[in-house]
Amino acid sequence: MNGLIEGYLGVSAEGKKSKLPAKLDYWQSATGLFLGLFMWGHMLFVSTILISKDFMYMITKIFEGSFIFGDEGKPIIVGILAFFIFFIFIVHAMLALRKFPSNYQQYKILKTHTIALKHDDTKLWFIQAFTGFAMFFLGSVHLYIIMSSPEKIGPYASADRIVSDFMWPLYILLLLAVELHGSIGLYRLAVKWGWFDGKDARQTRIKLKKAKWAATIFFLLLGFASLAAYIKIGIEHKDNYGERYKPESHVSYIMKKNTQTKGILS
Ligand code: HEM
Repeated sequence: MNGLIEGYLGVSAEGKKSKLPAKLDYWQSATGLFLGLFMWGHMLFVSTILISKDFMYMITKIFEGSFIFGDEGKPIIVGILAFFIFFIFIVHAMLALRKFPSNYQQYKILKTHTIALKHDDTKLWFIQAFTGFAMFFLGSVHLYIIMSSPEKIGPYASADRIVSDFMWPLYILLLLAVELHGSIGLYRLAVKWGWFDGKDARQTRIKLKKAKWAATIFFLLLGFASLAAYIKIGIEHKDNYGERYKPESHVSYIMKKNTQTKGILS
């Protein structure tokens, strides 16, 4: 009955407004924060290819749990991680959908206010909404591929996917969307919840905005440099598509040593 009253009148039988919108807002921020920080880590791991193929190979194997399961690792661990990230990604997108203008009139009001206010942060909201919408599609393709074939990650496997499986156009768009969306999102969270508010909120906001641009530029440069490195490897490896990378002897030595130590300890 209470639900029915609230459904028709917008307030409960006791005349109170629901706390649900505030709770949904909280969860939108929490999932956004998690995804934003995850993406920073993700870009650093993907960029290990800039150091060497061996280093990228070693990081991949660590994620596959090679320190527990030995040299081969268990790619299913990465599959489960991707499934979990995909779940959070969907929840975040669902919660964000509430904020999209749902008809032309709402859109027009928003647009008019943005022009009239000349407010930078309101313009940022538009970029946030647009890149978020693009990621519905671009992010889903990437996550589904990683989730369904987690064993195909590595210096050659990733480069083959980018060049021979023609994933590079999608990655260029996804990279632009995710880096703009992520850094704007983290900036907006800091402003919204007042995380770094000192005595002078205006000054804090100016500093946060600078940090936001620094993060966007840094991760875009890192992302495009990594993509270029994978493309170079993918072109060189085109004729041997599907062949897996074999690490240089010292990396396999380190990994074997770890497995042996684990064997002695257990
Ligand atoms: C557990 C989840 C994830 C895993 C294991 C993962 C893994 C990878 C790997 C291995 C690459 C290198 C290219 C390849 O092998 O295809 C890559 C690239 C990329 N991923 Fe992910 N990814 C995950 C989640 C995400 C999410 C949620 C996003 C954004 C929505 C994302 C955006 C990107 C972008 C933009 C690139 C290209 C990077 C560059 O150009 O430097 N990834 N990812």
